[in-house]
Amino acid sequence: QGSMHIHVLGAGAGGGFPQWNCNCQNCDGLRKGTIKATKRTQSSICVSSDGVHWVLFNTSPDVLQQIQDFPPLQPGRAIRDSGISAIILIDAQIDHTTGLLMLREGTQKRELYCTDMVYQDLTTGNPLLKILDHYCGINHHEIPTDGKTSFEIPKIENLTFTPVALKSAAPPYSPHRNNPHPGDTIGMLIEDKKTQKRLFYAPGLGEIEPHLPPLFEKADCIMVDGTFWTNTEMMDMGLMTKKARDIGHNPQSGEGGMIEVLDRYPNAKKVLIHINNTNPILREDSKERQILTDHGIEVAYDGMDIVL
Ligand code: MLT
Ligand code: MN
Ligand code: ZN
Repeated sequence: QGSMHIHVLGAGAGGGFPQWNCNCQNCDGLRKGTIKATKRTQSSICVSSDGVHWVLFNTSPDVLQQIQDFPPLQPGRAIRDSGISAIILIDAQIDHTTGLLMLREGTQKRELYCTDMVYQDLTTGNPLLKILDHYCGINHHEIPTDGKTSFEIPKIENLTFTPVALKSAAPPYSPHRNNPHPGDTIGMLIEDKKTQKRLFYAPGLGEIEPHLPPLFEKADCIMVDGTFWTNTEMMDMGLMTKKARDIGHNPQSGEGGMIEVLDRYPNAKKVLIHINNTNPILREDSKERQILTDHGIEVAYDGMDIVL
């Protein structure tokens, strides 16, 4: 009671690790058992203060497996039941939303918290929420993006949520993919009112804007975008023509990279999440992973538990 429990359901980026069609050194090595690494499902965490009622952050295409692997989310009280009391979406990307279709059963509406931009994307370019109306339906709660407004969620005791707009990227199918709007992607400061412990969570983070350092400063745990090691990782492997920052992911290494940013917060627990399968930090004996360790930065894995 009175402490915040964070459970990592999926620590991988879109595609997961290994990715079904990827033959990169990491994916191939993991399949063959020739590298020191563990598989990761697609990006999601859940948070609770009582261990019974959980907020699901993002709904991964792997959500059914993730629920099977974490008993507190399973039905335990009624014929139809779930430990998931509410769902918060931080963006409308495929890897963060497709699982909503997997959670369509039941007559009770899903309590869904997202920004107006995400709501627009999920009712137009990718009309998932309209499809869900033919199944369980949703209660949409709009997330404000002025950076000042906090909200609470019924049943989620003790926790306060403060969302902030972030520069990342809307999904490829979005009408505003190349015309960013505040609310396409958000980060969230989550505070336990009893203990004043705080988590800052931002699995998609392309740029450290001036409104972010004060939030990092307040956080006991900073859990941020760990997608790529370098800005040109996918380009260098011939897998994409865009750079990491161009698709909304600030890389770890180099000037302005996450390592340099996180070094400014020596007292916080620092965790990277949403790790792409090409990232060398997935190899536990890589020099890149050692650099993170030297900087006090951890790499999230499926099943990781953090109690603040
Ligand atoms: C991203 O964050 O850029 C996504 O993982 C892309 C995707 O889901 O395909
Ligand atoms: Mn993603
Ligand atoms: Zn790969």
